Amino acid sequence: MDLIKKIQDKSAVIGVVGLGYVGLPMAVAVARKGYRVLGVDVSTHAVTSVNKGENYIGDVDDDELRDLVAKGMLSASCEYDPLSEADIIMTAVPTPLDKYQQPDSSYVRSSTDSLAEVVTEQTLIILESTTYPGTTREIVMPALENKGFVIGENMYVAFSPERVDPGNQSFHTANTDKVVGGVTPKCNAIAKAFYEAILDAPIHTVSCPEVAEMEKIYENTFRNINIALANEMTILCERMGINMWEVIEAAKTKPYGFMAFYPGPGIGGHCIPLDPFYLTWKAREYAYHTRLIELAGEINNSMPEYVVQRAIKMLNKRGLSISKAKVLLLGAAYKKDIADHRESPIERVIKELESLDVHFVINDPHVSSFHNEFNGKDYTTVPWDRIKLTDYDIIIIITDHKWYDYQAIVNTGVPILDTRNATKGIKADNIVLL
Ligand SMILES: NC(=O)c1ccc[n+]([C@@H]2O[C@H](COP(=O)([O-])OP(=O)(O)OC[C@H]3O[C@@H](n4cnc5c(N)ncnc54)[C@H](O)[C@@H]3O)[C@@H](O)[C@H]2O)c1
Repeated sequence: MDLIKKIQDKSAVIGVVGLGYVGLPMAVAVARKGYRVLGVDVSTHAVTSVNKGENYIGDVDDDELRDLVAKGMLSASCEYDPLSEADIIMTAVPTPLDKYQQPDSSYVRSSTDSLAEVVTEQTLIILESTTYPGTTREIVMPALENKGFVIGENMYVAFSPERVDPGNQSFHTANTDKVVGGVTPKCNAIAKAFYEAILDAPIHTVSCPEVAEMEKIYENTFRNINIALANEMTILCERMGINMWEVIEAAKTKPYGFMAFYPGPGIGGHCIPLDPFYLTWKAREYAYHTRLIELAGEINNSMPEYVVQRAIKMLNKRGLSISKAKVLLLGAAYKKDIADHRESPIERVIKELESLDVHFVINDPHVSSFHNEFNGKDYTTVPWDRIKLTDYDIIIIITDHKWYDYQAIVNTGVPILDTRNATKGIKADNIVLL
């Protein structure tokens, strides 16, 4: 039967490869719309959890997942074989950087190779992982063509970037506009029909996968560079004795031509710090050096060190040396109200503190332990009820989780270095804003 017809009558079976922060919410969104979903992941933990109806992603509703699994609408496997039954397959596997800061496309490559072994004719394959322009054409298409499929005739391929913003209470997978770039007009038409059926948001088709791949990297590079600008302005403002946070509030009153970005202890997560460097790498193939992206990365990466320098300054003013100080770090997640600590700026802050032999304790209500990629060590956070705030010489707010009672923290009188303006609205001499 025609794929569009199968989408319309909901008989289409949907595959989701990679059941992580992107894949699992997507799998749930699709199953919620009445399609049977087959998830595949190499992680036995992810697969076992899904099949038990146990949620492990912040933005997925526990009850809904359990219900969809119980009804047989969502199941998972470590094997690719069940995907021979799928009509549409979305892939959301990791796209990290390697130790040389170059794209590690091995996950996209191996998942595509595994898919090519099992898919049958008249299937639509959509890559959702964020990656450099050209990936769909250079990695996904050849794997399928080598198996004899003809793209646009008996196999369909598109790239559609995922825009999920973990922790965002207003926008999630289902209500965020979707961009789709198919290899041929027919690929585009099927992908558009599919997303229209499962999402409650407009679908914007573009002429080819490269445009869709590039627009996603552009979105994230835009954020990266604007955060770098806010960080640079902050460093200057401190020297000039100007409150940068007040500057931003004032600039925000302009109804056009300005968009607020905020300084912080550095950037984190699986997207903003990494994605621009996918482009930087690809640009070299075209003999182009993306200077602005490199510079933004340099500024953002210097922020954890800058935070420690500011803490040293605060302690020195009180006649204390950082090596003898007791430091409390609040927040290990890369952004507020979530548990994701991948690439969190705390990793570099810790590395810096350890190089100075500083005694520090970490608390995060959402993160109990984490691995620090920068020094290869594991860290455990200390539960809040075991922390006596007045035992510390300085508190550094790394992540502005809503969970914290900032007024109570300020009331202890302990010097606070607030890197996120979490204490906004509270006036006290012991607060120093980044
Ligand atoms: N996390 C976000 O906020 C976000 C937002 C937009 C886009 N993205 C992009 O989406 C992609 C996925 O990101 P994520 O945060 O969901 O990653 P994740 O690490 O949370 O999930 C990826 C999953 O893929 C699985 N996997 C790895 N190799 C596999 C293979 N060969 N076959 C099957 N499964 C495999 C992993 O076990 C993991 O469960 C990345 O390209 C990322 O840049 C992420």
